[in-house]
Amino acid sequence: MSLFKTRLTEMFGIEYPIIQGGMAAGIVSTAELAAAVGNAGGIGFMCAVQWIDDIDKLEDEIKKVKDLTDKPYGINVTLFTEVGKAWFERVFDIIEKYKVPALETSARSPEPWVPRIKSLGIPWIHKAARVRDGVKAAKLGADAITIIGSEEGGHPGAERSATSVVGPLMVDKVDVPVAIGGGFCDGRGLVAVLAMGGEAVYMGTRFCASKECVIHPDVKQMIVDMQYNETDYLFMSIGDPVRAVRNQRTQKILEIEQKEGAEGLMKFMASTKGDKHSFGGPTAMNTGDTQEGVIPFGMVGGRIDKILPVKEIMDNIVSEADEVLNKLAVRKYWKAK
Ligand SMILES: Cc1cc2nc3c(=O)[nH]c(=O)nc-3n(C[C@H](O)[C@H](O)[C@H](O)COP(=O)(O)O)c2cc1C
Repeated sequence: MSLFKTRLTEMFGIEYPIIQGGMAAGIVSTAELAAAVGNAGGIGFMCAVQWIDDIDKLEDEIKKVKDLTDKPYGINVTLFTEVGKAWFERVFDIIEKYKVPALETSARSPEPWVPRIKSLGIPWIHKAARVRDGVKAAKLGADAITIIGSEEGGHPGAERSATSVVGPLMVDKVDVPVAIGGGFCDGRGLVAVLAMGGEAVYMGTRFCASKECVIHPDVKQMIVDMQYNETDYLFMSIGDPVRAVRNQRTQKILEIEQKEGAEGLMKFMASTKGDKHSFGGPTAMNTGDTQEGVIPFGMVGGRIDKILPVKEIMDNIVSEADEVLNKLAVRKYWKAK
């Protein structure tokens, strides 16, 4: 049996244990990306929260993905509390109406939504940044868990725990299959995840540096140009951190947090709300303003040096993972000829 066949590939009906996580912070994870990942043998999630102001656009995006692929795809529902209950109800109705093949939840406890989620009858994976949140979601009935470490781009959690620690811990604590993410971009990452007991590698930043991702070319180029140690960990003062590429905006935010704490930060964020450079509105990810917006890429950007078509990214991951496995099988080190 192929080592790439796991409970997660079975659950989602995909060829390779590779998941593209839902991404927002502007328009990032669209039909083009999800379809490309699906066509290349993985599964990609489109983030519903991207169309927070015009949820009809989620329907258009689902129609588009169905035109682009007959492979599985998913919708991510990031459970931010500031979005009203009616909005979430609408999203779940859309998922049901279009028979979306898979659901990902993240960011908050899914508890209030469990009956609605279960009524959809589709595979449900919940993403957690803390092991205890993953355990809770599994107890609530999630079919699978993604655990992410603080290396990740986006909202990596206030614990600042490493993927190499929370990954195996999560696997040991639940019976359902676990995807592991935060800091992966290649075949060595896929094998590392399998070695930790994970059943799929989970990635975001790598797929932002793809031809199919709709973010601005100058922003994609930031991934290619950045070093692994050039990200900042923002918003710790309000307990909801974001990892983002270091730029003028992140440095300004850190300065305010250090000098004025949570109160100063909230004032600053409110003063920038609605402006294209603020976090949460239409963002720099799409306008290409590389200095005045929060661009939430992960540390792994420091290992990515090319913007590639998704098919090539996926093929490279699989062939590199095969090569690593073959070498390990004959007890050879990765660099051995
Ligand atoms: C630009 C960007 C935006 C993201 N936005 C979200 C989001 O809105 N909701 C969510 O659950 N995860 C979000 N994430 C997290 C990703 O789904 C994934 O967990 C993360 O990218 C994995 O770590 P990596 O970047 O090291 O691969 C975002 C990640 C990135 C890079």
